[in-house]
Amino acid sequence: MQENNNLYKGIILAGGAGTRLHPITKAVSKQLLPIYDNPMIYHPLSTLINSGIKEILIITTEEDVGLFKKLLSNGEEWGVKIDYATQKKPEGIAQSLIIAEKWLNGCKSILILGDNLFFGPDLPLLMQNAKNNNHGATIFCYEVSDPERFGVIEIDKDNNILAIDEKPKEPKSRWAITGLYIYDENASTIAKDLKKSERGEYEITDLNRQYLEQKNLNVVYLDKDYSWLDTGTHETLLEASNFVKDNGIKLK
Ligand code: TTP
Repeated sequence: MQENNNLYKGIILAGGAGTRLHPITKAVSKQLLPIYDNPMIYHPLSTLINSGIKEILIITTEEDVGLFKKLLSNGEEWGVKIDYATQKKPEGIAQSLIIAEKWLNGCKSILILGDNLFFGPDLPLLMQNAKNNNHGATIFCYEVSDPERFGVIEIDKDNNILAIDEKPKEPKSRWAITGLYIYDENASTIAKDLKKSERGEYEITDLNRQYLEQKNLNVVYLDKDYSWLDTGTHETLLEASNFVKDNGIKLK
């Protein structure tokens, strides 16, 4: 395992139920829906590839994995190696690190949610710096007007993170935690020790809290030069398509 110490692998979590997008996602995976001229998953895939990642695991449902394989195959077309794994039930974002444990084989990882789109100047550089500076885990936060819908960080006057609150009624900041995370080689081991939450999921917030308690959680603040689009609803899905079209965003 020694040689894996500085190697980062990428994980795209692209399962889930997609209930907010019903009836569209009753028959089609959310992450295969179009964002203007490309399937949604091309975006998180590009984010990982631009971060210098060469090996990627796509985790999706047993039902949908064949479609992802049809679209992306072994990754050759993208110049990377793509493998696939399945999640039987959507039992939480942190479960992805348990599913990926063997595949990671002691490597560090960047985990990205398949419905999270990130745009902005020098995003590849920002990601590469975050990767190089990562000790423990790194989360990426974005200022939003409706923080009560997200995991939110509490920070002191020097922007040091004090706590994480999941969907707080009274948010302590407007900084939402986005679906992009960098982890050291211990994430799977820590994830395996998590207990399911009341809603029956292995919560990524609980995993991040473990790193916070060990004083090993870094935060990257994405300023307004960046855009973070979470495409889970009909409105945000449409917004994302318009954003890509209006900004002439090209992938590859
Ligand atoms: P969510 O948006 O929280 O869930 P969802 O996609 O199932 O949608 P809905 O709330 O409308 O039912 O998930 C965020 C992303 O993470 C999304 O890309 C799906 C993925 N995901 C999984 O693949 N497995 C899981 O167990 C969970 C919780 C999410």
